Amino acid sequence: MGKQLPASELKRDESLRVVDNRTGKEYTVPITHNSIPANFFKGIRAAPGPNDRPEDETERGLRVADRGFLNTTVIESRITYIDGDNGILRYRGYPIEQLAERSSFLEVSYLLIYGALPSPSQLSHFTSEVLLHGPIHSDAEGFFRSFRYDAHPMSMLTSAFAYLGSYYGEANPSLQGQDLFTKAAKGDPVALQNMDRQIFRLIGKATTLAAMAYRVRQGRDFVVPPTGMSYTESFLYQLDHLSPTDHLSESHSNKPHPVLAKALDILFTLHADHEMNASSTTVLQTGSSLPDPFSAVAAGCASLYGPLHGGANEAVIRMLLSIGSPKNVPAFLDAVKKRQKVLSGFGHRVYKTSDPRSFIIRKVADEVFAVTGRDPLLDTAMALHDAALKDDYFVSRKLAPNVDFWSGLIYRAMGFPMDFFPVLFVVPRVVGWVAHWRQMMLSPSGVKIWRPRQLYLGPSTRDYVPLDERTGAFQVGVGMEPSVIEHSGMTKRRKLAEAAGKVTSKL
Ligand code: CMC
Repeated sequence: MGKQLPASELKRDESLRVVDNRTGKEYTVPITHNSIPANFFKGIRAAPGPNDRPEDETERGLRVADRGFLNTTVIESRITYIDGDNGILRYRGYPIEQLAERSSFLEVSYLLIYGALPSPSQLSHFTSEVLLHGPIHSDAEGFFRSFRYDAHPMSMLTSAFAYLGSYYGEANPSLQGQDLFTKAAKGDPVALQNMDRQIFRLIGKATTLAAMAYRVRQGRDFVVPPTGMSYTESFLYQLDHLSPTDHLSESHSNKPHPVLAKALDILFTLHADHEMNASSTTVLQTGSSLPDPFSAVAAGCASLYGPLHGGANEAVIRMLLSIGSPKNVPAFLDAVKKRQKVLSGFGHRVYKTSDPRSFIIRKVADEVFAVTGRDPLLDTAMALHDAALKDDYFVSRKLAPNVDFWSGLIYRAMGFPMDFFPVLFVVPRVVGWVAHWRQMMLSPSGVKIWRPRQLYLGPSTRDYVPLDERTGAFQVGVGMEPSVIEHSGMTKRRKLAEAAGKVTSKL
């Protein structure tokens, strides 16, 4: 840890003085926005020490190690700011609480992508473009029907975004030239228009694809996105619509319930962006090699799906169901502390206090429960929440509820199947992803491929051993050989029979 100089000796200089104790050389590292450039350290070189391996490349400059990106900034962004110690989240400077209360999801989407809250005419243009791009080629029906009957909707949605890219050759830098989008940064209006068209498509079709993934499992026909509804109303309609003439009726008889549509709109606003989370990073990482944006969004879906990220809302409900009732909460928390179980919906890389979105969600939950009735799982959730917040294990690690702790309860109350919850996260997050992607494409300094480094700890150079001379004896440790797996149903049945004591000798 650094030693503090006396105030009299302190002359403010935006730099860091570093001494390399291997060589005695001193370096001055510039500080910009309270960050130091990792690449500077590449210039700090030394002769290899006695313990260095050739693969450490000591003479070629120091590397910066940051497993899991704990403290690495990868982009300059003007979109979202999180102050995790104080529970603050702002989109383009606006506090999330104000946006959730006063703006619609598409208004917030405009803000995230274009940097300012839209005027009425800007909002109307953006809304009509997004909704106009909702319908999808009828061939997509065959695509969705090709999945197995019990496919997870996230598998379908992830594939669907990549599939969508196959329709739009004009959005593919591999076909049109690699500066297809990046030339927008130099003021090319056609490139900018092309980029925005893909953005309208991605946001407009996100609900269509999600609804198709939902309906295919219900054995229902697909629905053309309706007109005359908001983005979230249209989504609910596409999920639930039954009669082919619904949308023609004057009264819109099965227009979604206003409280539920409003609740979903707020949830979408809360999920629209969250700066450099795992999936946005994945979208940018993928986007940095300049594929079409549909492929980048598909990669984002895959990243979001995991239970540590957007799959946590599904994991929370599975966890609450497994706990069963408030009386089982203490035993569950003990198992978490022994690292036998995971407390889903708690903890966050950035927030070291309650996630500000979780307070807004709890208010929304009350409004939803007033319509749908109270979910009995809520009692277990409350008991778990209260007990964890009083327990030193969680308090000392600054583990507090995140957005996913509550969102699943609302989705469940609204009648969504559990495995659809991550989809309800993806749909709004497409907006954040495209906002970051667009910002990167418009970067005045161009797009740099995201290609991190590694610390290679594997074998140094060694000579090839012919097959008949290999013993396999040096392969020690977990996962050093392919696992032995059973293949046929016959093998499985034989094992069952053995277990039941019906087969005494090995066949
Ligand atoms: N339950 C129990 N212990 C936890 C939890 C948890 N949910 N989260 C973190 N810890 C412990 C962790 O074991 C570690 O303890 P120790 O220092 O003794 O080893 C300490 O807290 C620090 O945690 P970490 O693993 O270094 O934290 P991280 O920043 O690498 O991981 C996280 C963040 C969100 C992946 C993690 O907190 C977690 O797995 N939470 C549960 C999954 C979840 O709710 N994810 C949704 C995140 S919010 C929505 C989104 O943006 O996706």
